[in-house]
Amino acid sequence: MGRLCSVFLILFLHVTLIASSCQGRKPKEQPAKKHRTAFFIFGDSFLDVGNNNFINTTTLDQANFWPYGETYFKFPTGRFSDGRLLPDFIAKYARLPLIPPFLQPGLHRYYNGVNFASAGAGALVETFQGDVIGLKTQLRYFKKVEKRLRRKLGNDEGKMTVSKAVYLFSIGSNDYMSPFLTNSSTLNTYTYSTFVGMVTGNLTSIIKEIYKRGGRKFAFINLPNLGCLPAMRVIESRNNGSCLEEASFLATMHNKVLKNLLSRLEKRLKGFKYSLFDLNTNLRQRMLHPSKYGFKDGEAACCGTGQFRGVYSCGGKRTVKEFELCESPTDYVFWDSFHLTERAYRQLADKMWSATNHSHDVGPFCVRKLFQIQ
Ligand SMILES: *[C@@H]1O[C@H](CO)[C@@H](O)[C@H](O)[C@H]1NC(C)=O
Ligand SMILES: *[C@@H]1O[C@H](CO)[C@@H](O)[C@H](O)[C@H]1NC(C)=O
Ligand SMILES: *[C@@H]1O[C@H](CO)[C@@H](O)[C@H](O)[C@H]1NC(C)=O
Ligand SMILES: *[C@@H]1O[C@H](CO)[C@@H](O)[C@H](O)[C@H]1NC(C)=O
Ligand SMILES: *[C@@H]1O[C@H](CO)[C@@H](O)[C@H](O)[C@H]1NC(C)=O
Repeated sequence: MGRLCSVFLILFLHVTLIASSCQGRKPKEQPAKKHRTAFFIFGDSFLDVGNNNFINTTTLDQANFWPYGETYFKFPTGRFSDGRLLPDFIAKYARLPLIPPFLQPGLHRYYNGVNFASAGAGALVETFQGDVIGLKTQLRYFKKVEKRLRRKLGNDEGKMTVSKAVYLFSIGSNDYMSPFLTNSSTLNTYTYSTFVGMVTGNLTSIIKEIYKRGGRKFAFINLPNLGCLPAMRVIESRNNGSCLEEASFLATMHNKVLKNLLSRLEKRLKGFKYSLFDLNTNLRQRMLHPSKYGFKDGEAACCGTGQFRGVYSCGGKRTVKEFELCESPTDYVFWDSFHLTERAYRQLADKMWSATNHSHDVGPFCVRKLFQIQ
């Protein structure tokens, strides 16, 4: 059934493409409708531009207070950084406006895309359940948007928007970190490989659902070395600041599975195109050799308290109230104990957008190509 639908959709799109290429011959006063390349964003706090401002959650999953947003926006937007995030830079390079959060009140214009990402979200329903918009719910919101697009733009143009759009994902970190951050028994219940299989299995279902609805162009970032995030290094005081090996191990495992599953999807799903950015390697290089990239500190956060400012207290509105704030976020890779500074995000976004293929940073497509191809 699903396959039949997809075949039909492909045939259908083919016909529309031919039809629209004829529209150039129409008289000037009736210019051909321009199909934009929309940008839809799914996942967690690396991409959330403010959805969690509008849900009933805790300040652990929110960043709508000072000093979040202090450099670029000059006010807290809900982004977990001093300034802009990856999707903000990608949108800029794609000549799109900033892509708004789905839950922003009064949002009606969807044709440039929408951001569904929610800080704390995972691929698994159980991950921080009740405090976040999990990936499954994000998909449900996307389906609403897709219906509204077809209603507003007409069936053909709505479908065209969906099929030409780029879909960006950052997901998994919270699934793997939550067992260490809460007292869940997940890691006693499942083997690591079963657990990784569940996370990537749920991600795969979401990708397939979007594909079924016409989505073809997907962009992913892999997971950072989770155990070496400032927050993870201070969880176990007996570790004295060393990386939390189990969390790093899960991230490494996930990244291998993700790489393979995308390559399999590309073979199985006709027209499926993707970009996988090696965020892990790129971030690791900046953590190890900060000065090579213009930073002064690659390990500690700009905002927080304790060793590496790893205690997640930036802004003083969470469990721990005291926090220090560095003078110049541009000197730091990490903004708070989990998230990056605008400067780090910008450098990573630049690579995602157009790194050359011999560097193995991003592939098979760079994100720029995804926006360009039809
Ligand atoms: C928000 O969550 C709290 C705690 O779970 C609950 O007591 C409250 O009723 C919720 N508020 C709304 C508007 O859902
Ligand atoms: C987990 O449980 C232990 C012992 O019951 C407690 O000391 C610790 O603070 C708990 N950690 C979290 C994150 O709730
Ligand atoms: C998705 O996650 C659930 C747990 O939330 C798990 O039971 C299920 O097997 C996973 N699905 C796949 C396809 O791995
Ligand atoms: C803990 O780390 C600090 C700073 O790296 C070091 O000076 C100290 O000797 C370490 N303590 C132990 C017990 O390893
Ligand atoms: C990728 O590499 C091949 C062979 O080295 C080269 O021909 C091609 O232009 C490169 N593409 C990009 C986008 O850099």
